[in-house]
Amino acid sequence: DLSKFPDNYVNCYKYLYDKLPNELKSVKMAIVCGSGLNNLADKIKNTVTFDYKDIPGFAVSTVAGHRGKLVFGILANSPVVCMVGRFHFYEGHSAQKVSFPIRIFRMFGAKVLVLTNAAGGLNPNYNTGDLVIIRDHVSFLNFTGSNPLIGQNESIFGERFPPMLNVYNHHLRYLFTQAAAQCNYTNLKEGTYICLSGPSYETPAEARFFSTIGDVVGMSTAPEATVGNHCGMQVIGISLVTNMVNQKPTLSSFKSPEEIAAQNYEAPTISHAEVIEVGNQKAKILEGIVEKFTEILEQN
Ligand code: 6GU
Repeated sequence: DLSKFPDNYVNCYKYLYDKLPNELKSVKMAIVCGSGLNNLADKIKNTVTFDYKDIPGFAVSTVAGHRGKLVFGILANSPVVCMVGRFHFYEGHSAQKVSFPIRIFRMFGAKVLVLTNAAGGLNPNYNTGDLVIIRDHVSFLNFTGSNPLIGQNESIFGERFPPMLNVYNHHLRYLFTQAAAQCNYTNLKEGTYICLSGPSYETPAEARFFSTIGDVVGMSTAPEATVGNHCGMQVIGISLVTNMVNQKPTLSSFKSPEEIAAQNYEAPTISHAEVIEVGNQKAKILEGIVEKFTEILEQN
């Protein structure tokens, strides 16, 4: 019953609904593609595509490497909707705006939310190119007054004070592990995602702090996971480690003045181009696993 939903959601839902064929008017799963992971959408068949700029209530994503289109279609025999390019808080959108599409996906019937992102690796056991299943998050956005659920609670979607104990669904994590194994991917990690506002990367001191509380760090995912959890979706998050976060040595950690003099104190910088590059190389693997995951989910 659409009359129970706020107008801005209804406008958006109707705009999309009217343009979709019957087999896509309801979806099982929503997928959000992270930086460099846009090719995920290429496996989707019988697609209907919308530009964000045409969708009522959607922001426009501005980052290079984020194309900005919404794709409805069939993945592994399952109707899905896929965001090719997401919205980030650092672009100047509110946390509410960033996560607006998630509630639209829920209105389309999506019970499962797949969030992907490119992230920096904090855990010293990780390597560039690793895929990490998100077990939990620490969201500095949520800590600092940018929780997307701030404001009047839209009770049609969920409760005022939602628990956050099971945001990243245990069963989906298990199924994703199975999907990875079936794709012969043996390097799957599991860890805690630290969400920053960005756009600046972490300082070495921040990196040291974050590495005591988490395994990967990035600038997305937590707002969408928070809103997905609020409206009763089962969430799974996957990080692709596109760079390892370096922790700068202290002067006292060197053994001699000569060693200090010999060290280059310029920490190697992270480039957005590098993030996109690793994404492009590893996207194929992640694409394959997500497709297999969708297939396994159909059978469960
Ligand atoms: Cl916040 N830090 C690092 N080092 N790499 C990233 C990132 C952050 N977000 C995406 N990649």
